[in-house]
Amino acid sequence: MTRFTVAIDGPAAAGKGTISKAVAAHFGFAHLDTGLLYRAVGAKVLAGGDPVQAAKALTPKDLEGDLRTPEVAQAASRVAVLPDVRAALVTFQRDFAVRDGGAVLDGRDIGTVICPDAQAKLFVTASAEVRAERRYLELADKGLDVTREDVLADVIERDKRDSDRAEAPLKPADDAITIDTSEMSIDQAVAKAVAVIEACR
Ligand code: CDP
Ligand code: CDP
Repeated sequence: MTRFTVAIDGPAAAGKGTISKAVAAHFGFAHLDTGLLYRAVGAKVLAGGDPVQAAKALTPKDLEGDLRTPEVAQAASRVAVLPDVRAALVTFQRDFAVRDGGAVLDGRDIGTVICPDAQAKLFVTASAEVRAERRYLELADKGLDVTREDVLADVIERDKRDSDRAEAPLKPADDAITIDTSEMSIDQAVAKAVAVIEACR
C-alpha cells in the first residue's frame, strides 16, 4: 500500500470539506476534517470543560452530534489559539496522514504545520461574501435561525482570529496551489482539485 497525503487548507466555508470528501472518494483515500477536532474541544468548553484537558481526552464519541453551529465554530476558533490545545491534537492528525492507502486532511495548518511533507497541498478560498452566503444557505437549510449579516460577521471574525494567531496561523504553505472557488460550481472545484493532485502523483 502506498502513502500519499493531500493537505487542504483555507478560510471558513471555502468548500474544503466538500472538495476533500470528493477527492478522497475519487482516489480511494481516507478523509479527516480536522476542524471537527477543534469544534469538539470548543463544544466541551461551552459545556464548562477545560480546553487543554478536553483536547487531551478527545474520543471518537466527542466528534458525534451537531458540532456545525456558529456558536461551536466560534468556540473552536477561540480554543484553536491555545498552543497546548493544538499540541494535544498533533499526533492523531499526523498518524492519520501517513496511514496506508492515502489520506486527505482539511483544516487551517495542514500544509504548513501538520503535514509539511504532504505530496499535494491545496489552499481553497473564495471571497468572504460568497463563503458567507454558502454557509448561510447551509445553516438556514438545517433550520437554524441565522441572518446573512450574522453569518458574514462570524466568518470574518473567525478568519481574522485564525490568521492573526501566533501558533499555526491560517495561511497558504509556500508550495500550496490556491484554488479560488468564488466563481466555481462544486463540480468545477472538485475537477480542479483532482487535476492538481494528479499532477503531484
Ligand atoms: O469545509 P468548509 O467549511 O471549507 O466548506 P464546506 O462545508 O465544504 O462548504 C460550504 C458550503 O459551500 C457547502 O454547502 C457546499 O455545498 C457549498 N459550495 C462549495 O463547497 N463549493 C462551491 N463551489 C459552491 C458551493
Ligand atoms: O467549516 P469551517 O471552515 O467553518 O470551520 P472548521 O474547519 O470546522 O474549523 C473551525 C475552527 O477550528 C476554525 O475557525 C479554526 O479556528 C479551527 N481550526 C484550526 O485552528 N486548525 C485546523 N486545522 C482546523 C480548524
